[in-house]
Amino acid sequence: MPRNNRYLCKMERMNMLIFASGAGSNAAVLMDYFQGSSMVQVVALVSNNADSSALDEAKRRGVKSNVFANVDFLEGNEIVSYCRDLNIHVIVLAGFLRKLPLSLIREYPDRIINIHPSILPNFGGKGMYGRFVHEAVIESNEGFSGITVHLVNEEYDKGQFLAQLYVAVSAGETPESLGKKVQKLEHRYFPMVIEDYLKGV
Ligand code: GRF
Repeated sequence: MPRNNRYLCKMERMNMLIFASGAGSNAAVLMDYFQGSSMVQVVALVSNNADSSALDEAKRRGVKSNVFANVDFLEGNEIVSYCRDLNIHVIVLAGFLRKLPLSLIREYPDRIINIHPSILPNFGGKGMYGRFVHEAVIESNEGFSGITVHLVNEEYDKGQFLAQLYVAVSAGETPESLGKKVQKLEHRYFPMVIEDYLKGV
């Protein structure tokens, strides 16, 4: 049994840690969604970027936050012990742009969830984030795009899919307009997909 499950009984809430690097709109939606949940509590938010607005979103909601240096994401020891200290059960990557340390992935098998702004396996992998994804989708004349919520394993963007939701790419679509459509899907479905998955673990 994974270490992070050992002390969790059904009466307890799961402790969630959010990782975010950028604007933090998904992090904000998640913190709001699970506010008052009997199943999950967001106990902290971690970033690799001291300028990330996700840190402000956390502060505004009274959620503790911490910035780790890039070297910590390479080694992993500091982050793993941070998670142990907070008794974290589940980690959600909400626009997190660093590769996770192997030690953390191994500590949380099937307990790390990521969101990607395309229908994987298309437009995933290195360099495919934010605007680059939407540009590539439009350049390839795809008829649709969307989001993929998936578990994180040792292979980048290749963990088990939990859900994929689609939007049409319209004539004259720009990366900005597609980004807005995709973001709408993210905010609407990401928390629900996480909740449904966690109900079953
Ligand atoms: C989202 O599009 C997410 O799918 C991707 O990064 C973006 C983060 O946006 N992984 P925000 O920081 O949550 O606003």
